[in-house]
Amino acid sequence: MGSDAVMNGGAGGGDDEHVEQLGRRRFLTATTAVVGAVGVGFLAVPFIKSWEPSARAKLAGAPVTVDISALPVGQQLTLKWRGQPVYVAHRSKQELDLLPTLDPILADPNSDNTGQQPEYAHNVYRSIKPEYFVVIAVCTHLGCAPDFMPEVKPQPFDPDWKGGYFCPCHKSRYDLAGRVFKSMPAPANLPIPPYHFESDTSVVIGVDPAGAKSAAGKTAGAA
Ligand code: FES
Repeated sequence: MGSDAVMNGGAGGGDDEHVEQLGRRRFLTATTAVVGAVGVGFLAVPFIKSWEPSARAKLAGAPVTVDISALPVGQQLTLKWRGQPVYVAHRSKQELDLLPTLDPILADPNSDNTGQQPEYAHNVYRSIKPEYFVVIAVCTHLGCAPDFMPEVKPQPFDPDWKGGYFCPCHKSRYDLAGRVFKSMPAPANLPIPPYHFESDTSVVIGVDPAGAKSAAGKTAGAA
């Protein structure tokens, strides 16, 4: 069973430009695959209908494998896992180097809220591999999907913007590690899902690395 992921290079603008920029955004298609046998035979037999909810539930919780071999530096993929958007961003060295400089303006720079990421992503980059950032794109305020705005340039909402994620709903800001700025409506960093690298070019969302611990607390969508 397959599903689609979209790739984009960031919204890159403020509130007023948001809709227009979405229209201009270049979408490419990448392939993902839902792992696991799901809903084998929705047979036209009455009693089978009672199996449908569990089959759907299984599909909703199934791991998703995404091919990142064609994901350029500076762009990200969007896919769906458990009904939630998940971003996989390919961060540049410059973007990674900027992250520690943002600590003073962040609410939880060291990811002390351990429920927001698995132990294996509890580090300065909040990721297994520094260059690849995997995050559940659900704002911790009221659940909007933040825009990917990686460019370092002044924005209407922040003249000193160093790149990150901007939630257009109530203007919460996050850096490119999903760490929320101080004094934002959003109370916590963006949650990191369980995931692991199946190979150098393949990421499985929804399954921890072998032997690894999941988030200590209740991460949204965590297994
Ligand atoms: S939902 Fe993101 S700031 Fe309110």
